[in-house]
Amino acid sequence: MFMRAISYDRQGPAADVLTFGDLPCPAPQEGEVLVRIHVSAINPTDVKARTGFSSTMAYDLVIPHQDGAGVIEAVGGGVSPTRIGERVWVFEAQSGRAAGTAAEFVAVPSDNAVLLPASTSYEIGASLGIPALTAHRCLFADGDLKGRSVLVHGGAGVVGSAAIHLAKWAGAWVAATVLDAAQGAIAREAGADLVLNLHEDDVAARIMEATAGVGVDRIVDVDLVANVTLDLACLTKGGVISAYAMRNAGDEGAIPLLQAMIAGAVFRFVYIYTVPMPVKLVAIEDITACLKAGLYRPRIGLIVPLQRTAEAHLALEQGGVTGKVLVRVAEGEKGSIAC
Ligand SMILES: NC(=O)c1ccc[n+]([C@@H]2O[C@H](COP(=O)([O-])OP(=O)(O)OC[C@H]3O[C@@H](n4cnc5c(N)ncnc54)[C@H](OP(=O)(O)O)[C@@H]3O)[C@@H](O)[C@H]2O)c1
Repeated sequence: MFMRAISYDRQGPAADVLTFGDLPCPAPQEGEVLVRIHVSAINPTDVKARTGFSSTMAYDLVIPHQDGAGVIEAVGGGVSPTRIGERVWVFEAQSGRAAGTAAEFVAVPSDNAVLLPASTSYEIGASLGIPALTAHRCLFADGDLKGRSVLVHGGAGVVGSAAIHLAKWAGAWVAATVLDAAQGAIAREAGADLVLNLHEDDVAARIMEATAGVGVDRIVDVDLVANVTLDLACLTKGGVISAYAMRNAGDEGAIPLLQAMIAGAVFRFVYIYTVPMPVKLVAIEDITACLKAGLYRPRIGLIVPLQRTAEAHLALEQGGVTGKVLVRVAEGEKGSIAC
């Protein structure tokens, strides 16, 4: 049987290399589930894999996208058939495998297909994966957040907003930085208690004022190279700076050592693919609780049909979209074919 899918056989610009067509349906192997994808999500990592930002082609043919959401259609050996029919969100579908979620079907290890609460849409489900797991790791790797304070840089970004949602769910006081007024509105809508404009506000002074001179316990940083001095000025003694992104693959940064030592600062670097699975499974419990509480509310910036995936890649790459970039795969509740 065949399915509709997006694929590429070489790295390059989206319009040149992303191809829409029929490919063979996967069959679930031992320990896997077969998911009929309703919504596939694009993350910067999918764009970087396609362009060759940090890796070469690992497979002759790649079906892109790590994240998605849909329904379990079949299971492989060792997986309970009771999972068939579950609505699930899928994470890291294409990690260590050639085929991701930009297709009508994907086969993934059973743990990578997580039950969606009944009230959660496929759009929100597809938006979880990398952003929610990354934000969770940055926030909680060093302990609970109840009664603590957090600064999230880039609070209007996809990971930044996820960090605000999860930190508020956990009972933290949350400040966020943004780069303009429109981003400020989004960070506020996400739940930030204090929103500061990096270009206009004296961020360190405002954070110190808001925390009675103590500073924040955790900082989630999208651009450590640019923000490290500011971070150290906002951090409480022994606080944690979690960095998860950089502008260019070769970026290097200098840390003001004396200031960092005096602060007893802890630097944590997060790369979602190397976070151990048991840690992710704990994160998933928290993410599910946050969803059930109605506190995980990602902004959907763009959604296109599967055949227009290249446009969506380009939009994400050009940076004009605020919010998740999604691809609608199923044409109706049941999609178009059966495998
Ligand atoms: N390490 C990991 O495992 C991991 C996981 C997920 C994502 N990432 C990486 O994280 C980055 C962000 O991903 P995303 O999906 O959240 O992207 P996004 O939605 O574009 O969010 C980034 C946000 O940060 C803002 N920003 C840029 N520079 C900033 C600065 N110096 N201080 C404060 N805010 C700043 C951006 O504003 P403008 O749009 O105005 O520039 C944007 O609002 C990407 O590079 C991605 O590859 C890494």
